[in-house]
Amino acid sequence: MNLTPEENNILAGKSGPAAQKAMQILETLGRIYDAERMIPVSSVQISGVSYDNLGDAGLDWLAEMAAGGGKTRVFTTLNPAGMDIENYRALGISEEFAINQRRVLDAFESMGVVTTCSCTPYLFGNLPHFGEHIAWAESSAVCYANSVLGARTNREGGPSALAAALTGRTPEYGYHLDENRRPTVHVILKAHLEETPDFGALGKVIGDQLQSVSANRVPMISGIETASLENLKSFCASIATFGGVALAHIRGITPEASAFEAPDAKMEVTPSDIDRAKSELIGASADEVDFVSLGCPHLSLREIQRIAQLLEDKQVKKEFWITTSRPVKGMADRMGYTEVIEAAGARFATDTCCVVAPIKGRFHAMATDSAKACYYAFAKNKFKTRLLPFDDVIKEALQ
Ligand code: F3S
Repeated sequence: MNLTPEENNILAGKSGPAAQKAMQILETLGRIYDAERMIPVSSVQISGVSYDNLGDAGLDWLAEMAAGGGKTRVFTTLNPAGMDIENYRALGISEEFAINQRRVLDAFESMGVVTTCSCTPYLFGNLPHFGEHIAWAESSAVCYANSVLGARTNREGGPSALAAALTGRTPEYGYHLDENRRPTVHVILKAHLEETPDFGALGKVIGDQLQSVSANRVPMISGIETASLENLKSFCASIATFGGVALAHIRGITPEASAFEAPDAKMEVTPSDIDRAKSELIGASADEVDFVSLGCPHLSLREIQRIAQLLEDKQVKKEFWITTSRPVKGMADRMGYTEVIEAAGARFATDTCCVVAPIKGRFHAMATDSAKACYYAFAKNKFKTRLLPFDDVIKEALQ
């Protein structure tokens, strides 16, 4: 790789041991992927924040980077942690876990990371624009950044994202390059989509098909008539989960989609494909559900407003988690939505989510509107799942 004099100095340790380690990670990645040079990034999103996933080895590595003088050079936010930082006791999280989770966050904070803990950083200021080079981890946010915002990022892991934050750089390969952003398969949607589970199901149908493709998995999708921000974040989370897709050109939405011809390889998605994908994510009957969770990816203010409308003057009968970022929760507080939701007995699980929190074994069956949450709730926590439209999830909590 061709490194600039400044990059060589960092590699030689002149900016301290943490920056040196970060540059070593990036230079190694660059060599593996044949990058010719480093490029500056303007924003970073780091995953691998929950102590449940990191364990002591991950915590030790972060502490070492912090002790080595690591300091972020660009705006950097964090993925969900394993607990609500303020309200963890109400969610049944142990003190021991809380102590370790705080150590993780302290290490990030001392390096200058904004410890917001959310997978939807684009909802509160980490919002790159079209063509901007960024280094994001968290597969759903990566797909959203590439496909909806038109920014450019690879699917970073926790260490490579932190390395990008501490150097302000990333190796130029993959989705940073024009040639890798070309669509490789044309998906023709012949179904009408309305609710978030429909969009999650579309992500699963395409993702399942593309799993067998080893080359660039970049679909171009025609036929989505309209999609809200909430639909798109659900779709991006799902196609990233089931197909490892980091970029989908959605005609009418992705800023650069019109720059490409539709590829010759074609795939049709019919209403029965969508129904089948949804039914594959339902393993629990209504009477088995003992846990209800909304907010995968983290909820927008509009979604929280809807929950408050449906819970007003009612009482939930099941454990019901509302997962969102602290900035969005702050807006919900000011609008009075939090008061209504908590009076109904539902709980905010801010900074965390039903997948990264340490809740294995606590519940039997979960209802949600998220295809991604269904997948991981079963894969990680062995919960049975029930995929429902957003409003129906809330009704399920009231039964
Ligand atoms: Fe976000 Fe957790 Fe889902 S990180 S995308 S809410 S699994």
